[in-house]
Amino acid sequence: LTTELSEQQVASLSVNGERLARDLHHSCQWGPGIRWGPNPTDTGMQRLALSQEDKHVRDWFVQTMTDLGCKITIDELGNIFAVRPGRRTDVPATFIGSHLDTQPTGGRYDGILGVLSGIEAIKTMNDLGLETEGGVGVVNWTNEEGARFPISMMSSGVWAGKISLEHAYNLKEVPTVASLPTAASAPETVKTALDMIGYVGSVPCSYKATPMAAHFELHIEQGPHLVSAGQRIGVVTAVQAYRWYKLQVTGRDCHTGTTAFQHRADAMYASARMMVKAREVATAHGCLASVGIVDARPGSVNTVPGLVSFSLDIRGPETSAVDVVSKKLKEEFDAIAAEEGKGIGKPCRVEWELDFDSPAVEFHEDCISCVQQSAEAVCAQDASVAEPKSLVRTIMSGAGHDSVFTSKIVPTSMIFVPCKDGVSHHPEEFTSAEDCATGASVILQAVVRYDRK
Ligand code: GLV
Ligand code: MN
Ligand code: MN
Ligand code: MN
Repeated sequence: LTTELSEQQVASLSVNGERLARDLHHSCQWGPGIRWGPNPTDTGMQRLALSQEDKHVRDWFVQTMTDLGCKITIDELGNIFAVRPGRRTDVPATFIGSHLDTQPTGGRYDGILGVLSGIEAIKTMNDLGLETEGGVGVVNWTNEEGARFPISMMSSGVWAGKISLEHAYNLKEVPTVASLPTAASAPETVKTALDMIGYVGSVPCSYKATPMAAHFELHIEQGPHLVSAGQRIGVVTAVQAYRWYKLQVTGRDCHTGTTAFQHRADAMYASARMMVKAREVATAHGCLASVGIVDARPGSVNTVPGLVSFSLDIRGPETSAVDVVSKKLKEEFDAIAAEEGKGIGKPCRVEWELDFDSPAVEFHEDCISCVQQSAEAVCAQDASVAEPKSLVRTIMSGAGHDSVFTSKIVPTSMIFVPCKDGVSHHPEEFTSAEDCATGASVILQAVVRYDRK
């Protein structure tokens, strides 16, 4: 029983890193992306949420967890909860969670490592015959990426009561992403896509229906800090704020060969100026601003587009800074629109629609301290390390994660491991098997420590 272990016994717990790496690459047979190196595992991943590839990996996950003695629950948004029972049945399980969906040009680690570390933690506990007080669960959250259906952390958001089920069900896929060659054949919404792969579960998507004692998540950093400092574990204490808008700039279609610049209301020219301005204003406020989707109509070489839509993702460590940047950009974009088309008395117009808003969060101190202790203990397992503490740092997450939403309801924190060159959302995203194993051992210990509390 975990409560009967000595601190020294807890500190010596570690996973089987080879098995973890094997399982991880096994799970990447569904949806491999662009090949970048000589080995069969040197590919990215393209496993869009609720695609056929996603169905295959989900089926594998359910089978694997069932074989490990876990009880499976699938909710109405296709979130899969697998629980290894504990001694007590009157308390909720402590969860390890992340996501198996990827970006269109994603890698093998973003999200996947989080779920696979959960599987490995359960395998290790089974090997040891370790009994826990409460159960230990692994959850695969649906559509964390928000790539195919453009709300990130979608299902953990519904689970936490922050996004409505109906809004999630009715979300339409992004056409440019969905028409990529390996995507499933054109389901329109989250609901139709869920139906198509048979993952509409019978249980409501809510904390009440599938409660948790706590949520821990292992993830690659997706940034440069750990790798450039030569450190092995990031104890994640917070996640920065972000907000997604959809903008529509309306001008007037006209002939590219006969219309002088001063006679145009060129929606693309105005949009391009707005994009440049977004970076300038974000920089001035310590934020980031990015445009990922652009659509111009009518989409003809020799017609100046009269309608352009684009996405805008604004991020910053403080919610208030994201507010300021949004407000300032609204003014600046209005001014840019007003100038374009002035000459014909038909200035461009710009409309904003808020798609998603995630204020900055801070994680729970109990979870953070479990992670910190576990990180130091795991780094100390390597006898050649003189200063285990120096390999561990606290860190803020630049990316969103399902832990953002779970943290609104239950104690939550995260663990980061380094990734090569800080590169992510790219096929060459890479974390060594050793770093993956270190992170998985940390999450195993963190869950055990939390269970003992
Ligand atoms: C979610 O993964 C995000 O950071 O966009
Ligand atoms: Mn992720
Ligand atoms: Mn991602
Ligand atoms: Mn993410």
